[in-house]
Amino acid sequence: MPNATITGWGKCMPPAVLTNADLATFLDTDDEWITSRTGIKERRISHVPLGELGYVSAARALACAGLEATDLDLIIFGTCSFDEQVPNMASGVQKRLGAVNAGAMDVNTACTSYLYGLTTASAMIRQGIIRNALVIGGELISPLMDWTNRNVAVLFGDGCAATVLQATDADEGVLADKLGCFGDVREILLVRGMGQRYANRGWHYGDTEWVFEGQEIFKRAVIGMSQACETVLGATGLGADGVDLVVPHQANLRIIEAVAKRAGVPMERTFVNVHRYGNMSAATVPVALVESLEDGRVKPQANLLLTGFGAGLTWSAHVVRWGARTHPLGASDVELPPLEKTALEIVRGHMAAKRGSREA
Ligand code: UT7
Repeated sequence: MPNATITGWGKCMPPAVLTNADLATFLDTDDEWITSRTGIKERRISHVPLGELGYVSAARALACAGLEATDLDLIIFGTCSFDEQVPNMASGVQKRLGAVNAGAMDVNTACTSYLYGLTTASAMIRQGIIRNALVIGGELISPLMDWTNRNVAVLFGDGCAATVLQATDADEGVLADKLGCFGDVREILLVRGMGQRYANRGWHYGDTEWVFEGQEIFKRAVIGMSQACETVLGATGLGADGVDLVVPHQANLRIIEAVAKRAGVPMERTFVNVHRYGNMSAATVPVALVESLEDGRVKPQANLLLTGFGAGLTWSAHVVRWGARTHPLGASDVELPPLEKTALEIVRGHMAAKRGSREA
């Protein structure tokens, strides 16, 4: 049975930066509260639709792997903030890339969508159903945010990254995975206003209300990720000492520290970028993975522990053994269209649109 190894990686971060000070211009909050409770200093706000971020990430990941778009057998787009529900996001990437031989599906498990997609693609590669897959994790939360609610507005950001998975006979790639879900408490993280339940019932799309029981979500995040990490470390026989780098979901620095501590891995071997991007939901782990490679934190044959947590409440962990190559084979010249507004102007636009839809 072949293994599924990651041979390409690429991210696409929107350039507009929204700082904690920017948030304090319209919310009753401050940098001290946000930094001490979450570790977040700034986040990105996209000036383009999610499909654009997905396409640029995908083109970069393909070039990194040295593959042609026509080599792809499957594209998985992990997200809960799709541009349209029909048709799906993955088919848009298939079209833009010209990946005419690829099937295209979306996976929505909220913040763990990329990781559930990783399991789906790697299982299909191991079964011999496909050989080359593109797995994207992307999220554009800013148009769906309730910017009047300080409990959630300070936590999230936009972003996207993609990876290419290929069949290999080498002893590398996704070595173990564990998926889980605390469905019994699914209502403690709920976004009202997204979904057909609200259609034609006085809601306008994007006019959301967030139910977010922060402390209970925090507790469950630590329990779920720790449980999943223990399972995959046990299955591979690696143990904490065998982990070269933890690449965790980036929702809150305190959660990351608690999960690393429970896994027995010191923070020096745990990748953190939550201070620069906040919680980008499905994009957090793939963006952190790409940046781990860019920063030289992933060595050939390194054992990586990926773990995530999100609405549902879904959770997961993967052990990924890296291959010999930690540098891209090539680069793509695809870029985002130029930015014409500041992050604060984009957010104020979302707030005005929401007020407009409420008054209509
Ligand atoms: O990826 C999805 C998973 N999401 C997560 O993993 C998030 C998990 N939860 C958390 O990260 C934390 O629970 C939060 C960061 C959301 C909140 O931290 P906390 O230490 O649990 O704070 P808290 O909810 O206990 O709130 C403490 C106080 C409250 O005021 P009172 O009632 O004590 O007077 C809040 O109203 O902080 C207040 N508060 C704020 N103050 C300033 C809440 N949000 C803010 C804010 N600025 N943005």
